[in-house]
Amino acid sequence: YYYSGRYQDVIDLATTTLLATRAPLLIAPAMNTNMYQHPATQQNMATLKTRGAVFVGPDSGRLACRTVGPGRLIDPMTILEACVPLLRAEKDLAGKRVVITSGATHEPIDPVRYIGNRSSGKMGRAIALEALARGAEVTVVSGPSEVAIPHNVKLVSIQTATEMAEAVASLMHECDIFVAAAAVGDYRVDAPAASKRKKSGKSLELRLVENPDVLALAGSDRKNGKIIVGFAAETDDLIKNATAKVKQKNLDLIVANQVNTPDSGFGSDTTTAAFVDSKGKVEELPNMSKGDLAEMLMDRVAKLTGAR
Ligand code: CTP
Repeated sequence: YYYSGRYQDVIDLATTTLLATRAPLLIAPAMNTNMYQHPATQQNMATLKTRGAVFVGPDSGRLACRTVGPGRLIDPMTILEACVPLLRAEKDLAGKRVVITSGATHEPIDPVRYIGNRSSGKMGRAIALEALARGAEVTVVSGPSEVAIPHNVKLVSIQTATEMAEAVASLMHECDIFVAAAAVGDYRVDAPAASKRKKSGKSLELRLVENPDVLALAGSDRKNGKIIVGFAAETDDLIKNATAKVKQKNLDLIVANQVNTPDSGFGSDTTTAAFVDSKGKVEELPNMSKGDLAEMLMDRVAKLTGAR
């Protein structure tokens, strides 16, 4: 990245770098809001984009010149992540549209309370990053999550399982690969209260009704050789339960995930998992980072897309 008061210098440098090296060029602009929004800057950025430069940021917030607005240097981790797709040579998912569900769902009890789960969204995020690096066009339908969605990924934010089902249904006609990494609430409160519930000194009973199964709905729509991948979050009988889910939900592959050990499952950076395919073939994996698991998963998915 480059921080400069003289934006034209950056344009010149960027253009000559692109032309001379043909290396991928990532630009993270950071400057005063007026300078950033100036038509000359915007036009120059558009020119660089047509020449293949990729932009990341800027962020919005407090600036060095003590004003607030767009132009703040984006978080360095985001810049680093934006480099990953540029540096990956193998683009085996180029042209593929990948839809990923991620994070938790929140089912309202009243305007201030909900039923949720412990999903952090880390696995969905890792898969999105991996798919992006392999050249795919990625959309993440995400419920509440601890982590931000990677740069250049389209984000559809939802809260409830019903909203997730609706969002996914509207995306399925433009999807080649569907990966359900979200921890979706199986039940919702039948009639959430419109106002905050007051305690009454008595016990409270909530009637729960079953939510739509987003993955099973996706599995029932197998037009155009779509690849459908699910996860199975299990505390017991990992392989047996995952094998049953592959069949029940009509999947190509499931990632069976042990979720009740400290180094695997909800919130953890690592996970112990196994792949189970549609024929019931099991591939058990050692404990590894969610990033490594995402890479192995997308290797299998790329092979499946090649076979279709
Ligand atoms: N899933 C979904 N919609 C639901 C429930 C689950 O899309 N309403 C997806 C999850 O994203 C995951 C897979 O189905 O990819 C399996 O989820 P899991 O919670 O392991 O199992 P369930 O199907 O909910 O079954 P159970 O809770 O009985 O284990």
